[in-house]
Amino acid sequence: MYEKIVSFIQDTFNTTNFIPLHEPRFCGNEKKYLNECIDSTFVSSVGAYVDRFEKEFSSYVGSQYAIATVNGTAALHVSLVLMGVEKDDEVITQPLTFIATCNAITYCGAKPVFVDVDKETLGLSHEALSQFLDENAYIKDNQCVNKHTKKVIKACVPMHTFGHPCRIREIKAVCDAWHIALIEDAAESLGSYYEGKHTGTFGKVGAFSFNGNKIITSGGGGVIVTDDEALAKRAKHITTTAKIPHKWEFVHDEVGFNYRLPNLNAALLVAQLEQINGFLENKRALANRYEDFFVSLNMKFIKEPKNARSNYWLNAICLDTKEQRDTFLEYTNQNGVMTRPIWTLMNRLEMFKSYQCSDLSNAFYLEEYIVNLPSSVRL
Ligand SMILES: Cc1ncc(COP(=O)(O)O)c(C=O)c1O
Repeated sequence: MYEKIVSFIQDTFNTTNFIPLHEPRFCGNEKKYLNECIDSTFVSSVGAYVDRFEKEFSSYVGSQYAIATVNGTAALHVSLVLMGVEKDDEVITQPLTFIATCNAITYCGAKPVFVDVDKETLGLSHEALSQFLDENAYIKDNQCVNKHTKKVIKACVPMHTFGHPCRIREIKAVCDAWHIALIEDAAESLGSYYEGKHTGTFGKVGAFSFNGNKIITSGGGGVIVTDDEALAKRAKHITTTAKIPHKWEFVHDEVGFNYRLPNLNAALLVAQLEQINGFLENKRALANRYEDFFVSLNMKFIKEPKNARSNYWLNAICLDTKEQRDTFLEYTNQNGVMTRPIWTLMNRLEMFKSYQCSDLSNAFYLEEYIVNLPSSVRL
């Protein structure tokens, strides 16, 4: 059967050469804009493309403001800083995520607390979140306090796994009731919507990534989105070394970050964003093709959740046993088709294993059985 799957994927991508998990596509104005950018000499953190990208990105996702950063991790870090996350705070997130989510929390001196995911969305479960807070927290002086540690649970960072939107409206309602700031890790979900609203725009702030494996890329890059003018101003200020604007003086009013996206990367991103609708259609057609095929084999293909439209950034199937999963990974990778298991759960990693967790049955289940399939935009 695995032979049949490999030849289906080779057929789908029309090649018997190595098929990566997700490779970028540069089919538009990338070279033109890059050349213009080089000719202008504005290749660094000041330049017309950065401003243009921010404008066009915010308009695409429907947020008031967008602030471009060097990568998605920086966007998450700054989002947490904007929400006032600091040393000894706690931040709820899901154990099933890429390490960057937890790294960013840790950069603030805060600790992640792990709450289970939903089996359908693969993202944070609003039910598990609500139950965790009922059992472990109370509100004091308008802050959510962890009963056991007496630390403030300052923020919650759900992640839209593989581009599938989690039930973000419901998660927001729980966060609002508990005075917890909602920050969306939308690194993987550009072009994904929940109930018709773009992911990343439900919380006070949202963070996206343009790493080389994402749906659009500039090699590296990220962006913070928000509807709050004051937060947007502060985001721009602290991502540009907190320098007070002045023609010649260098005065900085706090310890800021050198996190501004270079104009060169922004030039690439403007060109990539022009192609997003085509990329999304292409990826949806691929997901439909995968779904039909795996259903015909009686295998479980991960579909977009109800009330949501996914960008199908990474397609995934769920195998029946861990042994089956490992044989599948072994066979496909040995035969030139790149597949990979889901991330090792964050709560298992040395750095985070002592941190508080809810019951994580769904995350443990998904960790064992899920495999990602090649998902690049097909030429
Ligand atoms: C869920 C998630 N969060 C954060 C990031 C961090 O983005 P970056 O690699 O651009 O720093 C990524 C991807 O790389 C991601 O998949």
